Amino acid sequence: MKILAIETSFDETAIAIADFSGTRENPKLKILSNIVSSQVKLHAEYGGVVPHLAKLEHQKNLTFILLRALKKGSFPISKSKISQQTSKLRQTEKILEREPELLKKFKKEILPIKPPVIDAIAVTHGPGLAPALWVGVNFARALSFLWRKPLIPVSHMAGHLYSSTLAADNTLEKLQFPALALLVSGGHTELVLARGHGKFKIVGETLDDAAGEAFDKVARILGLGYPGGPAISATAEMSFKQFKRLNLRLPRPMINSGDFNFSFSGLKTAVLYAWRDMPHTKETKIALAKEFQNAAVDVLVKKTIAAAKKYKIKTILLGGGVAANKLLRERLSRDAGKELPHVACHMSHVALTGDNALMIALAAFFLAPTPKLLKLRKNNWKRVKANANLRLGK
Ligand code: KG4
Ligand code: ZN
Repeated sequence: MKILAIETSFDETAIAIADFSGTRENPKLKILSNIVSSQVKLHAEYGGVVPHLAKLEHQKNLTFILLRALKKGSFPISKSKISQQTSKLRQTEKILEREPELLKKFKKEILPIKPPVIDAIAVTHGPGLAPALWVGVNFARALSFLWRKPLIPVSHMAGHLYSSTLAADNTLEKLQFPALALLVSGGHTELVLARGHGKFKIVGETLDDAAGEAFDKVARILGLGYPGGPAISATAEMSFKQFKRLNLRLPRPMINSGDFNFSFSGLKTAVLYAWRDMPHTKETKIALAKEFQNAAVDVLVKKTIAAAKKYKIKTILLGGGVAANKLLRERLSRDAGKELPHVACHMSHVALTGDNALMIALAAFFLAPTPKLLKLRKNNWKRVKANANLRLGK
């Protein structure tokens, strides 16, 4: 089953094509292309993602990235007959009426080409920024209509979850259920219990800021720039011999709350006050970055292990942008190895922790109906909509 996947939920425009064979229990994967175009530089000027700029940027990039993804996957790009195009023009115009920039490019670059030999199109339909999501969803709807391929709407968080099943050698891990996924990104922090493919339940989540958001805000307080996660972890890794003597201790919010929820907003405020009251030197900056990272990781790891114990988990998964954090990866594998030695622990490899479309293809493969059923859904694009607040499970 060849799946072309599209992801535009936030500030990355991404398209991947993946070829799956075998069964869901024993799948094989060939990655035909995996292209991510980041808007980070554009938004860095504003210190965060600006929704209407993200929407415009996705519109400018999508057709170009699609053509690159097809070329990379060795799909022939040939033109079809003019008469076919004109009959489909009006519907395409209707689907893309709110994305005029994209429509212009679509008519010129995509409408004339013959449909590639793929089995389905997958698209992130939420959660994320509504204007950004809609560009990808409408693009996918137009392709699904034009090429007569079924459309699989995929949750961005399911994508982060399944990204952790891809091993470093690009083989897919066999998932043992029940599994527990710690999903940590810029917009979300969730502990998701998976009793099977698609049988998801959020058993804990942040009550205020997401973990990535806290990294970004603390980086801003310390003047470390945007995005904050990589900047904080790089600063925290710098050596500062007097660190222990400084006796700096930030709170570990909700660490003993008895549930699996998180709160990072108080921790960020504690950093703000500590920074206000201390001399601003390179060393104090390193110390605060270190202690903030320690505190965030302590809470994330402790709650994940506790939930894994409670639900008698067989597999722990780690995904989302913050899963790139070295300390989090080390601590989770160390503590899980010590306290739950029979539990497998799969982490997204660092290149796949950020937003990408390969993870959307992976989730689509595991969550879509069987290929036979899928074939009957050629017209389902009409029902696919973006949902900025989409949640995993019920
Ligand atoms: O999943 P993602 O790429 O986008 C969303 O869906 O939100 O996550 C982005 C978040 C940002 O907040 C970024 O600062 C954080 O992931 N991040 C990190 C690291 N790399 C990225 N946080 C901590 N340590 C890192 N190394
Ligand atoms: Zn994400």
